[in-house]
Amino acid sequence: MRLSRFFLPTLKETPAEAAIVSHRLMLRAGMVRQESAGIYSWLPLGFRVLKKVEQIVREEQNRAGAIEILMPTIQPADLWRESQRYDAYGDEMLRIKDRNGRELLYGPTNEEMVTSIFKSFCRSYKELPKLLYHIQWKFRDERRPRFGVMRGREFLMKDTYSFDLTKEEAMKSYNRMFVAYMNTFARMGLQAFPMRAETGPIGGDLSHEFIILAENGESKVFCHRDLLDLPAPGLDVDFEGDLQPIVDERTALYAATEDVHDEAAFAKIPDDKKVSARGIEVGQVFYFGTKYSEPMKARVSHPQNGEVPVHMGSYGIGVSRIVGGLIEAFNDDAGIIWPRSVAPFDVGILSMRAGDEATDAACEQIYAGLCKAGLEPLYDDSDDRAGAKFSRMDLIGLPDQIIVGPRGLKDGVVEVKDRATGERVNLSPEAAIDQIIARHQRDIF
Ligand SMILES: Nc1ncnc2c1ncn2[C@@H]1O[C@H](COP(=O)(O)OP(=O)(O)O)[C@@H](O)[C@H]1O
Ligand SMILES: [Mg+2]
Repeated sequence: MRLSRFFLPTLKETPAEAAIVSHRLMLRAGMVRQESAGIYSWLPLGFRVLKKVEQIVREEQNRAGAIEILMPTIQPADLWRESQRYDAYGDEMLRIKDRNGRELLYGPTNEEMVTSIFKSFCRSYKELPKLLYHIQWKFRDERRPRFGVMRGREFLMKDTYSFDLTKEEAMKSYNRMFVAYMNTFARMGLQAFPMRAETGPIGGDLSHEFIILAENGESKVFCHRDLLDLPAPGLDVDFEGDLQPIVDERTALYAATEDVHDEAAFAKIPDDKKVSARGIEVGQVFYFGTKYSEPMKARVSHPQNGEVPVHMGSYGIGVSRIVGGLIEAFNDDAGIIWPRSVAPFDVGILSMRAGDEATDAACEQIYAGLCKAGLEPLYDDSDDRAGAKFSRMDLIGLPDQIIVGPRGLKDGVVEVKDRATGERVNLSPEAAIDQIIARHQRDIF
């Protein structure tokens, strides 16, 4: 992409309404624009990151055996009356009437709808297990939308729903999602820790939140320090095999959110191993048994005894929240520092003298070489001054920069800068292309 043709409305001033660094940087980098409290337009740069995050989430859901569908944002109120949640959900639910006076709502979550889909097609235990997911916008009329996309009213969520014959089988689905979640966040460069959590309006009695530690996080969390050293399970785990040992290893140590925190259990941890910190909830998994299948009559034939309600779980990831969470995790005074897997472009090319023949030719050569290798460069071909180009490129946080100017080209070199470390090397244009491709291949998995 050439910057002259792109739409990158960066801001010079720091917006006063933004209380935390990720919100400030998202506005300054021209990633989003607020349309109403907690409701955002995603501008091109932000949209590209959102799509990268969404795609990683999707790939790991598919790898774990979940099947993608797409349910609508608008749901009939009657569906929620079947589960008794229509009134219980309260003011967070946006209620709508159509022209015929029929009551509708903008979905805050989809347990009812997916249960209704399941029961209209699946009648036998032979269909189980089933894991269905979608990635769809949700609306919750939050009392206090804040921190930009981190606590919005309209937000993009991946929600998966599992259907199993027994509690024991449902635990296997729970474990699939648990393991998939750790890998999902690891691919984005994030360490997310599973912690025992309250079940809230979803219900049920088993739940973990996946938390990334961050000073500006809304959640207060407590855990054993050794938990922080456990690596993600890895993309080679066998989802058809026994995942219980992996889950056990990651749930053996104390880890809880404030709502379910147990002071007495925490007190037993040696002082130097106690972590009490703030974090961002990027995902949550629930097992709630027959809470929805019972009232909604989602039953299947059992191999021995008649018909039974299915055991269910649900599993959410805050796709749009993660974009803010990533910036909380990866920034410095100059701006954002994207991990390569989610960066809006792979590399920036900065022309130090647009219009100079040798400079233009070298930029074009590098641009073409990177595109040919399947990378996505952002080529700053504008005639802004060098200082403005440097600070804009640092602000938007592309992992690598190639700085091309007449002075270097006299010696046959361009400068390659690593955004995260600030390290700079001079290389020939050809070597610069190879270097960027190598860095990309090293970090993307
Ligand atoms: N208001 C919101 N804005 C952005 N993301 C949200 C919001 N509410 C929830 N999420 C994301 O969606 C995921 C699943 O939501 P869920 O656990 O059902 O909601 P809650 O955390 O409110 O109980 C959360 O882990 C979080 O990452
Ligand atoms: Mg939650």
